[in-house]
Amino acid sequence: KASPRVRQLTASLIQHLHDFARENELTVDEWMEGVELMNAAGRMSDSKRNEGQLLCDILGLESLVDEITYKLAASAPDHPTATAILGPFYRHNAPLLPNGACIVSPEINAQGDRTWMHGTVTDFVTGKPIEGAVVDVWHTAPNGLYEQQDPEQPEMNLRGRFRTGKEGEYGFYCLRPVPYPIPYDGPAGKVLKALDRHPYRPAHIHFLLSAPGYKPIVTQIFDRQSKYIDDDAVFAVKDSLIVDFVPYQGDPKADFELPYDFKMASF
Ligand code: DHB
Ligand code: FE
Repeated sequence: KASPRVRQLTASLIQHLHDFARENELTVDEWMEGVELMNAAGRMSDSKRNEGQLLCDILGLESLVDEITYKLAASAPDHPTATAILGPFYRHNAPLLPNGACIVSPEINAQGDRTWMHGTVTDFVTGKPIEGAVVDVWHTAPNGLYEQQDPEQPEMNLRGRFRTGKEGEYGFYCLRPVPYPIPYDGPAGKVLKALDRHPYRPAHIHFLLSAPGYKPIVTQIFDRQSKYIDDDAVFAVKDSLIVDFVPYQGDPKADFELPYDFKMASF
């Protein structure tokens, strides 16, 4: 038996789809092009490519759903860290590494702006540190590719999970990311092209934060200096998630420092 929620969503979807067809006097050929686009997205998708999600993202749907889902958190007075879309490249079970470790393979590390990212995870209401929070991080190599898109990178490169210490502290070496295009060799690219839109995202680092008793946070941070910071192909940038990479002296392992504190909300 269908749940009330499923009934409501389906009825509303049908209503809006029919309105869309009527308002635009949609023809059989145009409708069939849409069907083909969906089928092509399905054929292209596997564990390394989520074309359906990509299509939703360039239409702003994942960002809108993110905003709707987490609007209460974001509007609280001294709010927890803002959320941002997950995107299609998250992988479960990234290596669990000690604080101070580097998520970059040596060959790739030599090609990028080496960065020491560190900070704390605290309770946004009490300000108290959260010990044992897990900071799950992932980003692209200087060629703009995530590890699973790139046969040249070792498995799980540029991914890691870090557990916060007694004072809620975490820290790891990564790279200062670069802007890069979302995959545009499929249906999503075809739609972008038809709209005269570019496929680029501003430089960003992804995070999934979790801690016992706290609401998980899916988010990204964005480099203020990055091209496309005001024109993200998937509409994910929020002001409070824009950060500054600071030139760093005195650490032979890093060219930049990136201090960043996360704030979580308890259940
Ligand atoms: C999308 C998001 C990303 O973070 C990314 O790296 C590529 C694509 C997306 O929303 O489709
Ligand atoms: Fe990304």
